[in-house]
Amino acid sequence: MQSDELGVVFYRVESPKVEIEVTTHRVAVIGGDGIGPEVVGEALRVVRAANVALDTVFFALGSAHYLKTGEVLSDATLAELATFDAIVLGAVGPPISSMDVPTGLLERGLLLRLRFELDLYINLRPFRGVPGSIAPDADFVVVRENTEGPYAGEGGQLRRGTPEEVATQGSVNTRHGVERCIRFAFELANRRDRHALCLVHKTNVLTYAGDLWQRTFDEIGREYPEVSRSYNHVDAACIYLATDANRYDVIVTDNLFGDILTDLAGAVTGGIGLAASANLNAAHKGPALFEPVHGAAHDIVGTGKANPLAAIRSLSMMLEYLGEDDAAARIEKSVLEVQQEFAMNFASMTTTALTDAVIERL
Ligand code: IPM
Ligand code: MN
Repeated sequence: MQSDELGVVFYRVESPKVEIEVTTHRVAVIGGDGIGPEVVGEALRVVRAANVALDTVFFALGSAHYLKTGEVLSDATLAELATFDAIVLGAVGPPISSMDVPTGLLERGLLLRLRFELDLYINLRPFRGVPGSIAPDADFVVVRENTEGPYAGEGGQLRRGTPEEVATQGSVNTRHGVERCIRFAFELANRRDRHALCLVHKTNVLTYAGDLWQRTFDEIGREYPEVSRSYNHVDAACIYLATDANRYDVIVTDNLFGDILTDLAGAVTGGIGLAASANLNAAHKGPALFEPVHGAAHDIVGTGKANPLAAIRSLSMMLEYLGEDDAAARIEKSVLEVQQEFAMNFASMTTTALTDAVIERL
């Protein structure tokens, strides 16, 4: 398979393979909230059409489950999820206007808990510009650190609600965490055509964390002489993404910068409805988690307006991770064809019509 030609992103860590004749992959499916179940259902339809048999188990987690049971994710469910080969997640989050679910409860209690407890330290987000988008020629990947930074939850509040209130929110950066993320990014850049890796941070202001990231980047970079290295401050990277996204091949960055940059990257390459992601433990310890970058979009539930391409592409990343290279490449190719063909007219197509278009091209 000439996967480079097809724009498939490589991320599998090479390990000795045991040949097994029939592999059924055990996949946990969390449809979640809003349009999550719709887009995941469509993506699974594509996987079936590509002739991959998945042994799927559905988990009813998310805001509806929380409102019914008062539970976000029990230890027992977490332990069960950890036994699967992969996890698919649609979207989590209550409607924006909802007052019933405390802010951040589902995000921290479900999605972030899965990322942290399963040690899914890489959040891999590939982008390809769509004709007519702001960055039609863009073809880059963001490697976002996924277990540390401001997401670690360091900090606290004092005297809450009083005029003397104090709130701190730290950023956790460990040499171990930064190094394994940067190493993954160099490995990835080394396998891609352009061999270019850009570190994005804010080293001029966040001098402690920035120093650790920059030094680690330079040190690990010496092991990859073929990969050209660059550095952009995160604010400048926002300008470049908006004006010249094609300059990027692989970006490596911390958890919060990666969160923000990938929404922007989605917007300039054709919309967040196309942006896929893989949450990986690159050492293959336990399952990986695959999810579209977009949220629950409660406002369009049931309207047929949800774009399934991000979920479909996330599942093609899953298939590649599971060793189903052929099916992964075929789905990826179909999605790219659909993106090229329908360009920025996705909004006029229904969820099912877009899925059918992908299936027809398999
Ligand atoms: C994402 C999302 C999550 C994040 C939220 C839902 C916690 O925005 O995957 O980008 O901030 O990482
Ligand atoms: Mn985000």
